[in-house]
Amino acid sequence: MLFVHIHTCYQMLFKILVILHTLGATVWTGGHLVLAVTVLPTALKNRDPNRIHAFESHFEGFGLAALLLQTITGLWLTWIYFPGFQNFLAFESYLSIYIAFKLALLLGTLALALHARFFIIPKLTKETLNSLAYHIVGVTTLAVLFVVMGAGIRLGGLT
Ligand code: HEM
Repeated sequence: MLFVHIHTCYQMLFKILVILHTLGATVWTGGHLVLAVTVLPTALKNRDPNRIHAFESHFEGFGLAALLLQTITGLWLTWIYFPGFQNFLAFESYLSIYIAFKLALLLGTLALALHARFFIIPKLTKETLNSLAYHIVGVTTLAVLFVVMGAGIRLGGLT
């Protein structure tokens, strides 16, 4: 009886984690798509960095909270699939390969985001707008790839 109870709780936790993870994905990927597809082209057309600043001032904290949520729920889900992260590094299934790919995406995202946040955004001018544009397109592409790889996990592989 107790075993059944624990098992049901565990299944519930797993479902909640997947829902939170999906919700975080809508914020992180959706927010970057809005930035890259609507705000950025207007800023480039008008050579106006303030449009980016205005978007960032609203999205920065919320977006980072979503990325943090993704990392926590993602690692938690990984822990459930690979208790104690055992067998994870054996790369015996598509699952660990897809998750490792997601970890690589996370590193790439952090590198691009930190570089933009500390080296480009503080001295953003009309002249440096292009290099920020490349960063935004890069982070957005990685954000979409996160969703593709995530869906791949749920679908049991993409091929
Ligand atoms: C911004 C970053 C991320 C985004 C946008 C994202 C997006 C997604 C999406 C859309 C799914 C499919 C959900 C479903 O229908 O089941 C998913 C699943 C998953 N993600 Fe992420 N993810 C991100 C980061 C991470 C990280 C850092 C990890 C951990 C290494 C991770 C591990 C997983 C796992 C294990 C699943 C499978 C859950 C399941 O059974 O469906 N994700 N992700």
